[in-house]
Amino acid sequence: MRRIEVVPSILSADAGRLAEQVKEAEAGGADRIQVDVMDGHFVPNLTFGPLVVEAVRAVTTLPIEAHLMVERPELFIEAFAKSGATMIEVQVESTTSLYRTVQTIKELGAQAAVVINPATPVEELREILPYVDLVNVMTVEPGFGGQKFIAGSPEKIRRVRALSPDVEIEVDGGIDARTAPLVVAAGATVLVAGNSVYGYKGGVAAGIKAIRDAVD
Ligand code: DX5
Repeated sequence: MRRIEVVPSILSADAGRLAEQVKEAEAGGADRIQVDVMDGHFVPNLTFGPLVVEAVRAVTTLPIEAHLMVERPELFIEAFAKSGATMIEVQVESTTSLYRTVQTIKELGAQAAVVINPATPVEELREILPYVDLVNVMTVEPGFGGQKFIAGSPEKIRRVRALSPDVEIEVDGGIDARTAPLVVAAGATVLVAGNSVYGYKGGVAAGIKAIRDAVD
């Protein structure tokens, strides 16, 4: 039984206190930090670039995931690898050369992950699975924090787990103390949480604890 990891995403953090919020997450027991990179084209929102990964890298020793919700991710991989991203996640829908993109990420020394959106069939993962360190199954349509968890996600996660008993399965979107047990029971092992951590009324550490308690 793999240990369940909790990954606060900075999309819902207070950008004016980003360093402090990252440190709060680390002190609160976060396993990794996710930087949600959006280009305003692949998703209807615009967020962070390599400079923000660099800033996060400077204040934490935790692994950093750069989730590239961008068109033509191959243009940005080197910059994110050099900025200190431990893992670079690319959307299968965003490039016509996914195999080369994954290989490039690994040649640059980062771990490679692929992400599938809610309407993307699990079958799209089959050929690339052997080459990646993690699969991220979006449990919301990407673009914004605080969205509602898509109820059919656990069944989809089970089908991804059936494709590979060993791959790390990350889930991203609407993960909180209610939905975390559902996705873990389906086979997820890495839980991205934005609003349920940075929007938690009891604070960041309590938000992380609420998720961990719900799955332990
Ligand atoms: C894509 C973003 C969000 C974020 C998590 O929309 O990448 O999924 O990581 O957002 P919450 O946990 O607030 O739904």
